[in-house]
Amino acid sequence: MRKILFVMPGQEGLGASLIAAGGFDNGEFEMRHFPDGETYVRVDSDVRGAQVVILCQLHQPNEKFLPLLLLKATLRDLGVHSVGLVAPYLAYMRQDKRFKEGEGISAKYFARLISQQFDWLLTVDPHLHRIHALSEVYSLPALALTAVQAIAQWLRNNIAKPIVIGPDGESEQWAAQVAKAADCPFEVLSKERFGDRDVKVSVPHVDAYKGFTPVLVDDIISTGRTMQHAAAHLLAAGMCAPVCIGVHGIFAPGALEEMRTAGLRVVTSNSIPDSSNEIDLAPLLMQGIVHLMRRD
Ligand code: R5P
Repeated sequence: MRKILFVMPGQEGLGASLIAAGGFDNGEFEMRHFPDGETYVRVDSDVRGAQVVILCQLHQPNEKFLPLLLLKATLRDLGVHSVGLVAPYLAYMRQDKRFKEGEGISAKYFARLISQQFDWLLTVDPHLHRIHALSEVYSLPALALTAVQAIAQWLRNNIAKPIVIGPDGESEQWAAQVAKAADCPFEVLSKERFGDRDVKVSVPHVDAYKGFTPVLVDDIISTGRTMQHAAAHLLAAGMCAPVCIGVHGIFAPGALEEMRTAGLRVVTSNSIPDSSNEIDLAPLLMQGIVHLMRRD
C-alpha cells in the first residue's frame, strides 16, 4: 500500500527528514487563505487507497486546527485508506481539570475532537499530569513517545559533568528519566505559580553539586518564568548558569530572547521549529509511525 506524508505548513524540516527516512511519498497539496480568512485546500497527489499521515505540530493550535481538519476531510473524500496524525507537540493538555467554577476542561474536549477525526495519533511527551495516559481522554489508538533518550544523548554529546534539575514537581518524571538515561545525578525543585508570569521556586541540596553544569529539564517552556526563576536560584546558590532543556519550546512572545539575554543556553527538540532546536525527534517519530501504520 502506498504511504504518503502530508506536511502542514511550518514543519518542512522535520517533514523532509521523515519522508527521507520512512520511504513516504511527499503529499502534494495547496493550502492558502481566501481574502476573508477562509482556507482553500487542494490535494494534488493521487491518494486513493493510500495510508496517509499528516504531520502537524499543534503549537498555536487554534489557527492550525481547522485547516488540518479541512485537509483531512479532503483526503477522506478522495478515498484514502486511513489518515494518521503526527502531532509532535500536542496542544490543550494543560487545562486538564476544572480549576475554577464554570471552566471548561479543554484537554478532554480537544481529545474528543481529534479522536473523531483521525485513525491514530502519535505525539511526544504530552503534558500528562492529572491525566495519566492519553487513553483516559483519547478514544483512538494514541501513542505517546518520550524524548528522554534523545535528550540524554544530547547531554552525553554536549555536557561533560551534568546535574539534571527538574524545575518543579511536575517535571520530575522527565528529569528523573533523563538523568537515569544519561547516567548522572538529578534534583527536583518545588514551584508555586501565583499567575501566568508569577512563579516562585525553592532550591534544595544544590551545595553538593558545585563544579557540575546544571541542566534544567522540563516538558514545556512557555513564558520561561519557571526556568528563569530556577536558574536565578541556582546562580544564587553558587552554581553556574544552567542549560535549559525543554522538550517543547512553545515560547510566549519575547520569552526565548529574554532567556538568552539572561545568559541561559536554551535547547529544545524540533517538535516546534525554532532557533533553539538541537534535539532531532525524526528517528523517534519514525519508530512510532512504523508501529502505528502496521495496525492500519
Ligand atoms: C507546567 O506544568 C509545565 O511542565 C512547565 O513547567 C510550564 O508549562 C512552564 O511554563 P513557563 O515557561 O510559562 O514557566
